[in-house]
Amino acid sequence: MTRIPAVRVELGERSYDVLAGEGAADALLDHVASTDAGRIAVVAAGNVFDIHGEAVIAGLDRRGKRSTVHRLPPGEQGKSLPVVGGIIDEILSEDFERRDLVLGLGGGAATDVAGFVASLLLRGVRWVVLPTSLLGQVDAAVGGKTGVNVRRGKNLVGTFHQPRAVGCDTGFLATLPAREFRAGMAEVVKTAWIGDPSLFEALERDPPKDASHPRLPETIRRCIAVKADIVSQDEREAGRRASLNFGHTLGHAIETESGMSYLHGECVSLGMVAALHISVETGRCEASLLERLLALLEDLGLPVRDPSLDTDAILARTRADKKRREGGDRYQLTRGLGFVSVARDLPAGAPRAAIEFLRR
Ligand SMILES: NC(=O)c1ccc[n+]([C@@H]2O[C@H](COP(=O)([O-])OP(=O)(O)OC[C@H]3O[C@@H](n4cnc5c(N)ncnc54)[C@H](O)[C@@H]3O)[C@@H](O)[C@H]2O)c1
Ligand SMILES: [Zn+2]
Repeated sequence: MTRIPAVRVELGERSYDVLAGEGAADALLDHVASTDAGRIAVVAAGNVFDIHGEAVIAGLDRRGKRSTVHRLPPGEQGKSLPVVGGIIDEILSEDFERRDLVLGLGGGAATDVAGFVASLLLRGVRWVVLPTSLLGQVDAAVGGKTGVNVRRGKNLVGTFHQPRAVGCDTGFLATLPAREFRAGMAEVVKTAWIGDPSLFEALERDPPKDASHPRLPETIRRCIAVKADIVSQDEREAGRRASLNFGHTLGHAIETESGMSYLHGECVSLGMVAALHISVETGRCEASLLERLLALLEDLGLPVRDPSLDTDAILARTRADKKRREGGDRYQLTRGLGFVSVARDLPAGAPRAAIEFLRR
């Protein structure tokens, strides 16, 4: 058995381990081998399967587990109801049984689909995850949110379905495109800001800029620990889990408005700068913290300004997003490192001023 450090997500009888570090994939497969699953349906991003799939299938073979492979189109293209329907038909045509397991392999998009498929198959079967992107390892694969995009918007259809185990193998990250790595670092910065101020300070001193950084595994584990703690307290986002949306209100609006030109993490970078700007302007937070955030994001090669942003279009987009949710304004603001909470008394012009700040 491979010994890998684990972070526990405490959810009563649905608790599970997130194994993280070099070799976590083997440890996850050991977990799979310990179950009574007769067969493993591997739901994988096709382009990731081309690189890492054979090793995973061979690992299952060695452990005496039969598998079938179900390939997804890369990225967001795979996150659709028609694709999910096709995958479910494929899996069921291979006599999948209730005790069998779904294994998700790929970035956050693929693992969102794999979990969604598992939650629907035979009214819900067990699933495990091997996230292969940085964003997937620190965010998407932990916490049990699954889903797909529909015409009306991203992630509007989905389920809560916790995995039985997660294996965040840093070995996968060596093949992740550099831009995807940087985008993942935006979620690392976000997570550190929300729940681990000393991690934020460590990032300021010596931030991982690629997968070879010696403290990357520890950085990933600390992010998982923050997310696990939040999910344990608020699995279904009734309260504290919403703090994970720090930087996401304007970030999402920028992402939708920009079409395909920005990655999600790049928009979170811009969105966090905007959230800090609002926090400073409304007297919640010291201006020096905005300077520190800007310096770190720039050091990581993430966007912190964009003169081409369309302020009116972005504001209209946040209002459209807000209408879909119940309750008041959903801006997550901050009083400083380690303190993020929803703002209830936002002056009307504050979001506009924040976008103007990004356009500087
Ligand atoms: N469920 C949640 O709680 C949650 C949280 C955050 C984000 N998400 C979702 O995650 C998705 C974003 O995830 P992402 O940033 O991983 O993007 P992604 O899944 O689209 O991956 C980006 C690209 O990198 C490829 N890739 C992934 N790992 C690779 C590797 N090791 N080597 C080579 N290529 C690799 C992917 O196939 C894809 O082409 C979004 O759909 C978002 O909605 C979900
Ligand atoms: Zn995000």
